[in-house]
Amino acid sequence: LHVDWDVVTAEKGGYDHFMLKEIYEQPKAIRDTMAGRVKDGQVDLSREIGLSEDQINKIERIHIVACGTAYHAGLVGKYVIEDLVRIPVETDIASEYRYRNPIITPNTLVVVISQSGETADTLAALREAKKAGARVLAITNVVGSSVAREADDVIITWAGPEIAVASTKAYTSQLIAIYLLGAYFARIRGTRAENELAHIVTALQQLPEKADQVLSDTTSIQEFAQEIARHEDLFFLGRGLDYAVALEGSLKLKEITYIHSEAYAAGELKHGTLALIEEGVPVISLATQEAIYDKMVSNIIEVKARGARVLGLALEGDQELHKSVDRVFTIPKTLPLLTPVLAVIPLQLIAYYACVSRGYDVDKPRNLAKSVTVE
Ligand code: G6P
Repeated sequence: LHVDWDVVTAEKGGYDHFMLKEIYEQPKAIRDTMAGRVKDGQVDLSREIGLSEDQINKIERIHIVACGTAYHAGLVGKYVIEDLVRIPVETDIASEYRYRNPIITPNTLVVVISQSGETADTLAALREAKKAGARVLAITNVVGSSVAREADDVIITWAGPEIAVASTKAYTSQLIAIYLLGAYFARIRGTRAENELAHIVTALQQLPEKADQVLSDTTSIQEFAQEIARHEDLFFLGRGLDYAVALEGSLKLKEITYIHSEAYAAGELKHGTLALIEEGVPVISLATQEAIYDKMVSNIIEVKARGARVLGLALEGDQELHKSVDRVFTIPKTLPLLTPVLAVIPLQLIAYYACVSRGYDVDKPRNLAKSVTVE
């Protein structure tokens, strides 16, 4: 009897690629990142964050600093923390931040986000921030990494090892860490009522199940991915949190399919991008944010009128979008603030299936490394 077996195949656990395995591990990664940090409907990070209540109350500004996908998680972080905690947040790319003489006061909290905890620019930004007197909190997936060792406080994302160069489950776990941090600070600073925070916690706890739901039927995503695999240009549109997610979706696509793509804040369309929309150009439009839904639909109608082929990403029960787009993919409803966790999944899958359809190496894209430890 001869059995073909090798370690890598075994590690893929039945999936064709690590990336797909890691996409499907997201419900677990979300659950694991919340475990032990939520008790009696309340977020408690006091074991991992050494900041006293007094210090938390004194924070005047927050800088979130990261690279790549972690930077995109940081963009969501700006929305979330400003909304929940009402502290001004700036999110910056580590290679920019480290060289730009940022305004750091003793009451500035710098949050660095890094899956590996070894990214050279992120580590250098952390060191600059410490030198300038900031307190540094790290969100990282690797216990004992350089970033984890050098930061004052660490929130570990329990996503487990991420092998594929294109980051997926690390991103969603980073989002969870940000929600936990936001809810924790909001409770201490009293910027949100107890019952509102309890409501957020309940919604967070429902996310793994909802992520499973997104992953349960991906047929239409696969069809759309096959369709776009033939194209060389693509646009993502979104507003607010959907814009932050659009940037991450566009990065995923570029990283592994080599299709040129750009993400735009939909309101900026008419300031340039609209000139690039012509017959047949694929556009992925996110419309998951109820408060700005109508604005988004108007933007979709604008690109449709110029011949774009539009995939709309909407919330379950959406009755409108199918009238103005070519295809609709829906995700379960959750709080608007938490929607990025679910909205990013179809975008990860589009990149994955388009890459497979183009025949490229999913897990090891050209020119890219999993961890960039030199500048
Ligand atoms: C590389 C990886 C990306 C990652 C970025 C930041 O570019 O290919 O997937 O987002 O580094 O990595 P980090 O480990 O700091 O999150």
